[in-house]
Amino acid sequence: MTDVDASKKNASTPIVVSGTRPTGALHLGHLNGALKNWVSLQATSRCYFFVADWHALTTEYANPTGIRDNTHEMILDWLAVGLDPARSVIFRQSEVPEHAELHLLFSMIIPIAWLERVPTYKEQQEQLEGRDLSTYGFLGYPLLQAADILIYKAGAVPVGEDQLPHVELTREVARRFNRLYGYVFPEPKGLVVEAARVPGTDGRKMSKSYGNAVALTDDADTIYNKLVRMVTDPRRQRRTDPGDPKDCPAFRLHEIYCTSQERAELAAGCRSASIGCVDCKKVMIRHVQEELAPIQQRRSELAARPDVTRDVLSDGRRRAAEAAEATMVEVRTGMGL
Ligand code: TRP
Ligand code: SF4
Repeated sequence: MTDVDASKKNASTPIVVSGTRPTGALHLGHLNGALKNWVSLQATSRCYFFVADWHALTTEYANPTGIRDNTHEMILDWLAVGLDPARSVIFRQSEVPEHAELHLLFSMIIPIAWLERVPTYKEQQEQLEGRDLSTYGFLGYPLLQAADILIYKAGAVPVGEDQLPHVELTREVARRFNRLYGYVFPEPKGLVVEAARVPGTDGRKMSKSYGNAVALTDDADTIYNKLVRMVTDPRRQRRTDPGDPKDCPAFRLHEIYCTSQERAELAAGCRSASIGCVDCKKVMIRHVQEELAPIQQRRSELAARPDVTRDVLSDGRRRAAEAAEATMVEVRTGMGL
């Protein structure tokens, strides 16, 4: 695989690392909250993007059957939206076992209390009731994440706001390691994308588990049928009742998808009740359909060529392992091995 862009990057190019658990088909929330930002980071940074399949096991260990298929679907989505294997290292976490080695070595030096006080630990245990999450691996979730990040010496980690405590823990791990064994790890910063909170059709955060998501794979009719029913300003009971786009969940999508002129006209029409919600939404829906059509076109071309995804993953694995192994040499030496 030619590496034209990557070869122009040098030692001072920022290093970016991010991963996602393989949850299956991605939706507009992922696209606007993370993926578009990842795509643009490729131009300026040395990027490592991986499928966090070990992290999936921390909660799905009793029923892991979806992980493989979901990984494949996610890689298709990534490539279709423009993650570019010539510019980024795209791989599967479980294929780079150095992550596990670093996690193990970190486990020697990190107090259990640091992990118990990470807010997601108790929150997730309460939210995902019905499974036994009193496991060693679940407690270690953020420490594995720290290993994922530090093994590439990342300077920046693009994540959702909920992940910032994990990035903070990562910084503390780096500091403790460096103090004990000499400097190896830079302290990474969390990069939170603004404007990224995409509401689902019911107004809550877009999430597959809420059944309120528009998938990247939804066809034009499905997109229309979902979004035309999306909740709006509740004051617009009748066509003649004026509303306010500030209180309209659908208008959050107008802010992402419409031109500023369209937005100004539609907002005025909403406030004066000169347009109805369906007319207003149609403008936004057309933009969503236009954005997803070429993505779906590329996705179906890629899906028909399993050799492409296979090559992307094996090439990514090789490049990730090379960087990870270089760090591990320093780590093992530092730790007296
Ligand atoms: N915990 C992240 C999430 O749930 C996924 C993840 C695993 C990750 N390792 C990472 C994100 C390293 C950024 C960097 O979304
Ligand atoms: Fe929302 Fe548009 Fe309806 Fe106003 S007219 S409530 S902005 S969908």
